[in-house]
Amino acid sequence: MTRPLNSPSFIRRGLVAVGVALAMTPAAFAQAPIVIKFSHVVANDTPKGKAADFFAKRAAELTKGRVKVEVYPNSQLYKDKEEMEALQLGSVQMLAPSLSKFAPLGVKEFEVFDLPFIFDDYNDLHKVTAGPVGAKLLKKLESRGITGLAYWDNGFKVMSANKPLKNVEDYKGLKMRIQSSKVLDAQMRALGALPQVLAFSETYQALQTGVVDGTENPPSNLYTQKMHEVQKHVSVTNHGYLGYAVVVNKKFWDGLPGDVRTALTKAMTEATKVANDTAFNDNQDALAKVKASGKTTVYAPTIGERFLLKKALVPVHKQLASRVGDETIQDIYKATGFDPSKL
Ligand code: LMR
Repeated sequence: MTRPLNSPSFIRRGLVAVGVALAMTPAAFAQAPIVIKFSHVVANDTPKGKAADFFAKRAAELTKGRVKVEVYPNSQLYKDKEEMEALQLGSVQMLAPSLSKFAPLGVKEFEVFDLPFIFDDYNDLHKVTAGPVGAKLLKKLESRGITGLAYWDNGFKVMSANKPLKNVEDYKGLKMRIQSSKVLDAQMRALGALPQVLAFSETYQALQTGVVDGTENPPSNLYTQKMHEVQKHVSVTNHGYLGYAVVVNKKFWDGLPGDVRTALTKAMTEATKVANDTAFNDNQDALAKVKASGKTTVYAPTIGERFLLKKALVPVHKQLASRVGDETIQDIYKATGFDPSKL
């Protein structure tokens, strides 16, 4: 049955349509902010969390409200693997995954950052991330529909388990949670441990229930996820680095008005400084808090113990060279001055 044109519901719908059309004047369109959904998996109170929040604030200020960055921390929106897919599909616009998580996109070279003992300290690392080698790696993401904007620091990793981890033999047979990186897989196997890839958001529960025995992470991640409450021993091995690449959906980024992109680039430069300036202290503070909790023993390996760990792990560089690219490894050795033959 057709409704007469003068029926009350027809008139009501007509009025609503006119109202909507009037509200959507060009001025209203111009005022609708550009929304950037920025998803990440860690707590707010971490180097990445703080830098993401800072970026959101500065993006709003520098674009005078034309851009609204919505930060979704703690895997609230997506877990590790899902967030990469969401970025490519355009369901989120920005992420800062750890460098260990780019290989599933087909850019295996990023796993070079996972090579154990490849960086002695932040100085070494910055020679790569702030130099041509870092820039070359970010460029490789373009063919995946992703633009790399910056590197953000976290820090050097500690090992944890429910038993003391002093000697290489102590790792034997332990089920260790790792990120999705073949280099980290090889690293754990070199110690005789059994690596198990798990999403970051699943790690605490896996440790609590004994699905895995231990893990590795910078102290800030360990502490803010309360992993120390379910790990009796932490060994400050500083055997490897964990940091991030801030990435944006390329189509989205290229489609932004030029002045907005310039303002966001400035906000990103400032946010990078926040991440990198706070990372060292955040990790020191987190380690102090883990100690103070009294739930976990924090052990600093002796020079001799750390040397033996290094000897056991550096062969992973050669072993994984065909995967991450010998050229990339050599580029890093050249930038930092690391010489594996001098061990
Ligand atoms: C992890 O999965 O352990 C880390 O990559 C988490 C993070 O983003 O720092």
